[in-house]
Amino acid sequence: MGYRVAVVGATGAVGREMLQTLAERNFPADKVYALASSKSVGRELSYGEDDIVTVEALDKFDFSTADIALFSAGGDTSKAYAPKAGEAGCIVIDNSSAFRMDDDVPLIVPEVNPDAIEGTTVAKGGRNIIANPNCSTAQLVVALKPLHDAFGVRRVVVSTYQAVSGAGRPAMDELFNQTKGIFVNDAVKPELFTKQIAFNAIPHIDVFMDDGFTKEEWKMNAETKKILDPSIDLVAHCVRIPVFIGHSEAVFIETDKPISDKSARTLLRDAPGVVVIDHRANEGYVTPHEAAGEDAVYISRIRSDPTVKNGLVFWCVSDNLRKGAALNSVQIAELAIERGISGR
Ligand code: A2P
Repeated sequence: MGYRVAVVGATGAVGREMLQTLAERNFPADKVYALASSKSVGRELSYGEDDIVTVEALDKFDFSTADIALFSAGGDTSKAYAPKAGEAGCIVIDNSSAFRMDDDVPLIVPEVNPDAIEGTTVAKGGRNIIANPNCSTAQLVVALKPLHDAFGVRRVVVSTYQAVSGAGRPAMDELFNQTKGIFVNDAVKPELFTKQIAFNAIPHIDVFMDDGFTKEEWKMNAETKKILDPSIDLVAHCVRIPVFIGHSEAVFIETDKPISDKSARTLLRDAPGVVVIDHRANEGYVTPHEAAGEDAVYISRIRSDPTVKNGLVFWCVSDNLRKGAALNSVQIAELAIERGISGR
């Protein structure tokens, strides 16, 4: 039997990638609904190489006609529609931050905490809603999981270099238009970003919090604790850079047990979802440009940190629209099917 799948926010950067990922992975879908705002109704979107889906209005959609809904239309839209979809018996996989920290909503990265999915349904104390983590957290925990299991990760320091697509399609347009404009001496007028993003780096993603961290930095800490282990201390510094697709992270970890670059490299090579490309030579590492369009979390530049007792440093790159969003959501949907989780 196939499933009826709704993609909410189908016209957006992540929504389009969700359609692409479902098709690419031959998701067992009998019917795919593409939903967006009323202004997009009637637009045609590609579903894989050969098929087209026509956009319908989210506010007119009856979620009792879908089994699974992948939401990526912003937090406000999720807050307004995801609970209704869950109550209608749909399993919601939500890419926004709206429900991530709710106790009755599992936050899942299938390579890391697949068993958390058991708490999804109303019968098991859930709300038929599963949250997908923040893009920078998703790739990080895939890399940390095998290291944590083997060596006990105690503390993480992470600096991110994040692509503009994490802020949606309009943000990609802003980078494109500013870049073009600068070559013809047009004045730069930041719109979505607080400062010029072309040829620049902005140490500010999401809103500022009272303690001086940004919400993006807070999310990396709180979500890593919920997904992997509450005892891990994590401090993040998040920066937006003028790259369209692919988040990069410089990761510094301290572990309970002694760790070496060699043992870490061997473990990471066998870890699910991870590809190690680490030759200490020109081209022996991965950049976001190469990770774009790929599913893996790439690890490079693995080396021991001589400044702490048990320390390791590495570079972690992944396609933020894929593992950070669409792919992880589709993997959660596949896991739900595998475990027989149904909202009805
Ligand atoms: P639309 O294109 O009709 O505005 P991105 O994150 O790339 O900006 O994409 C946001 C996605 O969320 C788009 O598909 C957008 O649809 C959709 N969206 C935003 N607000 C709403 C809303 N109130 N109702 C339905 N879809 C929405």
